[in-house]
Amino acid sequence: MATMKSLIGLVNKIQRACTVLGDHGGQGMSLWEALPSVAVVGGQSSGKSSVLESIVGRDFLPRGSGIVTRRPLVLQLHKTESGAEYAEFLHAPKKRFTDFAAVRKEISDETDRITGKTKQISNIPIHLSIYSPNVVNLTLIDLPGLTKVAVEGQSDSIVEDIENMVRSYVEKPNCIILAITPANQDIATSDAIKLAREVDPSGERTFGVLTKLDLMDKGTNATEVLEGRAYRLQHPWVGIVNRSQADINKNVDMIVARQKEREYFETSPDYGHLASRMGSEYLAKLLSQHLELVIRQRIPSIVAMINKTIDELNAELDRIGRPIAADGGAQLYMILELCRAFDRVFKEHLD
Ligand code: GDP
Ligand code: NA
Ligand code: MG
Repeated sequence: MATMKSLIGLVNKIQRACTVLGDHGGQGMSLWEALPSVAVVGGQSSGKSSVLESIVGRDFLPRGSGIVTRRPLVLQLHKTESGAEYAEFLHAPKKRFTDFAAVRKEISDETDRITGKTKQISNIPIHLSIYSPNVVNLTLIDLPGLTKVAVEGQSDSIVEDIENMVRSYVEKPNCIILAITPANQDIATSDAIKLAREVDPSGERTFGVLTKLDLMDKGTNATEVLEGRAYRLQHPWVGIVNRSQADINKNVDMIVARQKEREYFETSPDYGHLASRMGSEYLAKLLSQHLELVIRQRIPSIVAMINKTIDELNAELDRIGRPIAADGGAQLYMILELCRAFDRVFKEHLD
């Protein structure tokens, strides 16, 4: 009996193969879209990139005040058994990054390659795969922050452009939404919650994430939100304490940051009773469990989609002839093989 882990691993492999083939879930219903992913939504500087980094457990995303994330980043995490840890970009497939500071630089350079060193945004995604023994198999999407006004150097349409771009990801029924809301702002004005409610009214695929708990005014706390009394979602809210800008400047490392976050909750007079359900590590676990559930529920429709893809690939291979290694059809062949493997594993699960 195959484990859920191997199923999620297969989902990841197929998504990656689809990406290589140029199927990013653009037109119509594609295999890519049938598979689940997790996207972050929220206002600028609400802590989206920081939350993604904590889930991954590595430092590698450009972060900071202002509009730092200017292109969607589609991030695929692959758990390795061998202990190997490296990253690869779709736009530079031959290069293996083992230095995560270099990954951050490449994201930022690749952003500038399309947008220039401006405050403009582009909806052309950057595709990054991270291979590590310390990750759960997941596809995460980092997105530009929602804004209310254009700033100097941005077109007037930017507010709408960003919202439309973000919406195009989160409206997909298989997208799990991390609605990032900073605790030091009024939750009633949360852009994340507003958009999440619009595309997912029942809240079944929305996770509320409350960041910046450490920055709340003295004498106030977020228990109303975290206990689900202020704004009820189907899934429980998770409170987070990411690294501050000062921590980032001092290069406080991820392990230390996680430890500090854990201590923050455990010793907090306000949140101590919630400590076991707070923090980045807990969020990562919660997401992974939810993903398993979603995949399990979707098995029949994914199998149907895969079989359709197998048929289409077979027809395509008949048309271009069976490939020999390394020829153009080899990619198609690879995805066909993955689909077959997937189909077998899923059928075992159904039995
Ligand atoms: P994004 O624009 O939503 O991707 O936000 P970033 O992750 O880039 O974070 C914006 C700024 O807020 C950075 O300077 C972070 O250090 C800071 N920040 C994010 N989350 C927290 C938090 O929980 N606590 C504190 N003190 N600072 C945070
Ligand atoms: Na930012
Ligand atoms: Mg960001």
